Amino acid sequence: MNLEQARRGAEKLRKIISDHNYQYHVLDDPEITDAEYDKLFNKLIQIEEEFPNLITPNSPTQRVGAKPLSEFKEVKHAVSMLSLANAFDEDEMARFYDRVKGKLEDKDLVFSGETKFDGLAVSILYKKSHLEIASTRGDGYIGEDITQNIRTISQIPLTLVGKNIPEKLEVRGEVFIKRKDFSDLNRRQKKDNQKVFANPRNAAAGSLRQLDPKITSKRPLSFCAYGIGDYKGSLKLSEHTQVLNQLQHWGLPISSEFQTLKGLEMCLEYYKEISNKRSELTYDIDGVVFKINSINQQKILGYVSRSPRWAIAYKFSPPEEITQLIDIEVQVGRTGTITPVARLIPVNVAGANITNATLHNLDEINRKDIKIGDWVYIRRAGDVIPEVVRVIKEKRENVREFKMPLICPVCGSDIKRQKGKAAFVCMGGLSCAAQKIQAILHFASRKAMNIDGLGEKIVIQLTENKLINNISDLFLLEQKQLIKLDRMGERSADNIIQALEKCRSTTLAKFIYALGIPEVGETTARSLENHFHTLERIQKSPIDELESIPDIGPIVARNIESFFAQENNLKIIKKLISHGINWDSIQISAKTPFNGLSFVITGSLEKMTRENSRDILISLGGKVTSSVSKNTDYLIYGNNPGSKYEKANELNVNKIDERSFLKMIRKEGVKY
Ligand code: IVH
Repeated sequence: MNLEQARRGAEKLRKIISDHNYQYHVLDDPEITDAEYDKLFNKLIQIEEEFPNLITPNSPTQRVGAKPLSEFKEVKHAVSMLSLANAFDEDEMARFYDRVKGKLEDKDLVFSGETKFDGLAVSILYKKSHLEIASTRGDGYIGEDITQNIRTISQIPLTLVGKNIPEKLEVRGEVFIKRKDFSDLNRRQKKDNQKVFANPRNAAAGSLRQLDPKITSKRPLSFCAYGIGDYKGSLKLSEHTQVLNQLQHWGLPISSEFQTLKGLEMCLEYYKEISNKRSELTYDIDGVVFKINSINQQKILGYVSRSPRWAIAYKFSPPEEITQLIDIEVQVGRTGTITPVARLIPVNVAGANITNATLHNLDEINRKDIKIGDWVYIRRAGDVIPEVVRVIKEKRENVREFKMPLICPVCGSDIKRQKGKAAFVCMGGLSCAAQKIQAILHFASRKAMNIDGLGEKIVIQLTENKLINNISDLFLLEQKQLIKLDRMGERSADNIIQALEKCRSTTLAKFIYALGIPEVGETTARSLENHFHTLERIQKSPIDELESIPDIGPIVARNIESFFAQENNLKIIKKLISHGINWDSIQISAKTPFNGLSFVITGSLEKMTRENSRDILISLGGKVTSSVSKNTDYLIYGNNPGSKYEKANELNVNKIDERSFLKMIRKEGVKY
């Protein structure tokens, strides 16, 4: 065989193998036996061994080709990977339905009904039909590059098949482990004296986060696609169910349970049908997902905070188990909030051993009438902290009442109830070791500064040994100090120093979130970054400007203002920056015609969501507010604009329709 013959032979074999993969994995209808398949596969290996130059990264022989990584690289998602709002009963479903109906003014809404896989969301980017990058969800905006591991999943095509495949296509879906595969895996793990996994979801997560793809390739991972992220090229699909069918035609496995549903009744029926079928399915699900089927209507509805308005997860009630509550202790949180925690006789709930459950606050204990010594139902919903559902009053004997302590068990300061609130708070502030430790742990956490390896045990030792007193001291730590801590080897100490070095480059939003301002979560931190662009402007912002930001209410605005009013906080921020913490400032060209202008958006836009247009305006230096006033410079309007349009007329505010708006932003180099 000469080189040219070998090239043609290899190409042909790859095509045949990929067609058979499709028959087997997607259609579940193999046309050849396993032995015949192996024969074709071995023939390809033979050619590639003889002519190694012909090996392509996406050849089916190369699924486990790569070497172990030293770390996962970051991948920025071009289209954010959001989560879904939840409903837990028919009332919540009906409310969702009415909300959507009100916005669409449509009679019978049509949904795609799907199973909600209990695994991990991944995004797989295909370029010119070839699998290029696969990533985890991460914080929704930045994930980890797990391409090597995704390539080992035989169900996921390395090359898409069929026609009209967009030049760039990001497939979104879930990686999970089937129930039977999970029990086989655990049996093998036990036999090999390896870690036994608590449930299929944990096993899937652990398998995807392996640096060595050889290990991943031995884990029985499955995949189902449920949507599309970013794409370039033409996609003439107007319904979500068409998207699913198209993905299947391109070779991707999709759920066999999806259905088109008309009206609320049909959705509720579908939920019942899937609930009854749940135990027959080969994989775990924790609910069903309803998505508005029309892509156009999805665009009209847009997004709120971190989830689409056009979809909802109707979750199954989580499993409950009975155990005895043997004590109630209190924990002191990052901002001093005292949380009562139930100590339980250990009980296994949905695969995890539970020894503690949160009781939230004193009102909750009184409302549920929980006493020490009671028998209780414990519930665990996904990754959520376990909680006490209710007391079994019939079993009550020798119980005693819980009393909120008057002084903090950690620092001895007074505990006081906040005015008008359920929470009791330790008044010790950062002089309370518990608050200090929690603040440092929050600063180091993954979604904040992401300082790998800096766990609770280490932070406790660091503060107890007075090596650090606040977050800025972390950056003064040296390897020789760390090494002296309990159970700390040279390698772990080096890793922490390296993680501290690496975390210095961050984003403004992550930094603000890491500061731990009460009630300022990731979304609020991101809104602050989008609105103000610089830390200085956030620090100096008057409270009414803070309140004008859509996500921020009066309480959060006050928290932000008072945080930056405290000398000590400003000192710590200064120190952090002097230790090299930095972020890219958003570049706003002073010349954009949008700079400093105030916009209001109304009506339904056709080409983009309101959220998108808001982000674009902000990135061009404009401000977006929710109501028209005499300070509004422009009103951008779509279909059915309503009262804001009239108000703009009254006040003589300039009005721009969507087409002109698109023209204006394209002139500034925005691709839309
Ligand atoms: S759609 C913008 N469809 O649920 C919404 N998600 O709570 C994109 N999930 O992160 C998600 N099955 O990991 C969608 N059929 C399904 C799903 C599904 C499971 C997971 C997914 C997502 C999470 C949201």
